[in-house]
Amino acid sequence: MRDFKGKTAFITGGASGIGLGLAQTFAEAGMNIVIADIEAPALRTAVSSLNARGAQALGVECDVADRQSFGSAADRAFSAFGKVHLLCNNAGVARTGPTWEIADSDWEWTIGVNLMGMIHGLQCFVPHMKAHGEPSHIVSTSSMAGMRASIAGGPYTATKYAIVGLSEQLARELADTNIGISVFCPNNIRSNMPNNGRNRPARFGGPIDARLDVRAAEHIATMQERNRAGMDPHEAGLRVKRGIENGQLFIFSHATERTVIEERFQRILGDMDAAAALGPQGSLVK
Ligand SMILES: NC(=O)c1ccc[n+]([C@@H]2O[C@H](COP(=O)([O-])OP(=O)(O)OC[C@H]3O[C@@H](n4cnc5c(N)ncnc54)[C@H](O)[C@@H]3O)[C@@H](O)[C@H]2O)c1
Repeated sequence: MRDFKGKTAFITGGASGIGLGLAQTFAEAGMNIVIADIEAPALRTAVSSLNARGAQALGVECDVADRQSFGSAADRAFSAFGKVHLLCNNAGVARTGPTWEIADSDWEWTIGVNLMGMIHGLQCFVPHMKAHGEPSHIVSTSSMAGMRASIAGGPYTATKYAIVGLSEQLARELADTNIGISVFCPNNIRSNMPNNGRNRPARFGGPIDARLDVRAAEHIATMQERNRAGMDPHEAGLRVKRGIENGQLFIFSHATERTVIEERFQRILGDMDAAAALGPQGSLVK
């Protein structure tokens, strides 16, 4: 997708941080913007500031983990702007701490927002994009935690790897359509991510300030420090736009972790060599 003007973008989690940077970027490119977000006051502020700068932006309160809520938000976008051409599956949350100590409700919350949120986006928009047939694109926000383990916690890493895997799957399944696929793997971007427990819905335990949790406090403090020194979210949005224009499957915000990724792949290939050294299938059982 190279032509953005007059087209429509649907951005989940667009009231803050990276999602707001994406909204700003695509509004500047002349797109209509629909922001679907769970945090109503931030949503109102984001939409008014975009519209004050001349954008055509609509805010829809939505919980991406809830299929019905996602479906209603998609319907609002269709009735406001007709066709949607760009889906940014961006809303995401994390619950850190030792993986085996994380409560089921927090696994469900993280999987619900990060993974089911993306799945709901695909269910609502892939058939729509296939039906209108115009050049379209789906970009899903994973993380560098989708490339290697991190301090952001087991549920976060598991869902961010899943977003990478699903994006690769979609690129394969939609290769002969007009729908392009990208997965965005940011490193540190300035946002409200360290305080993301503010948006935990009641059914998953309600709002929580994870900074007060002794098991997670050290990780949250590190995340906060890195977040503060991170990239401007508008710049992240511009990098995503460039990646879409280039037709990139993987879009990285930073190139600083290249050696970590190389080491991971070397390890995978090394362990595959260990399997090769055992000989062909049937070599061990006599
Ligand atoms: N900031 C970083 O350094 C960084 C790094 C890697 C990946 N990410 C990813 O970027 C994405 C955006 O996060 P951010 O850093 O901008 O954080 P943020 O907290 O500033 O923004 C997240 C937005 O998602 C919304 N949201 C949360 N739960 C929701 C739900 N159930 N339904 C709809 N909206 C919901 C929030 O209200 C908020 O507006 C996430 O997927 C996150 O995992 C961020």
